[in-house]
Amino acid sequence: MKKFLFITILSLLSISNVSASSENIKGQQLYIKHCDSCHGVKHGMDMSKRVAPPVFAVKMHYIGTYADKDSFVMAIADWLETRDANNSMMRGAVRRFGVMPEVKVSRDEAEKIAAYIYQGKLESPEGFQQHFEQMHGKQ
Ligand code: HEC
Repeated sequence: MKKFLFITILSLLSISNVSASSENIKGQQLYIKHCDSCHGVKHGMDMSKRVAPPVFAVKMHYIGTYADKDSFVMAIADWLETRDANNSMMRGAVRRFGVMPEVKVSRDEAEKIAAYIYQGKLESPEGFQQHFEQMHGKQ
């Protein structure tokens, strides 16, 4: 009986692992489709070419306040629904680029994208670290 329980728990754990990573892949696909054109690394830190802060910067600003995954996901998904400059966590970016335009994704898609931003492997543009330290001090 004990052995059976152990095996059941093991297989439950591995099922949840599998679904967590396939959710991550889905989140990444959605991110690439809906967000990367503006938040990606393509133009590096060349501000004359950037139209939005790199996603890595977005993550750094949100994770400082929303450290756990649930509140992080909620905060990003809420931002996509409201885009209220008064609630911005990136006022410097709002001043530089203007408030983010509306991107049409469902709440479910928004949460998957946010979970990917929270736990997925993100690229940061070359020179990002120096820029961040310049703006916000050494972390
Ligand atoms: C058309 C360009 C564009 C697209 C596409 C885009 N964004 Fe943005 N985003 C911006 C700009 C510009 C800013 C900086 C100004 C601001 O914060 O509103 C920004 C800021 C943000 C912020 C910080 C908001 C704040 O001020 O606190 C988050 C979070 C964010 N984007 C998430 C996303 C996600 C997730 C997607 C994909 C679903 C996405 N963005 C797609 C342009 C874009």
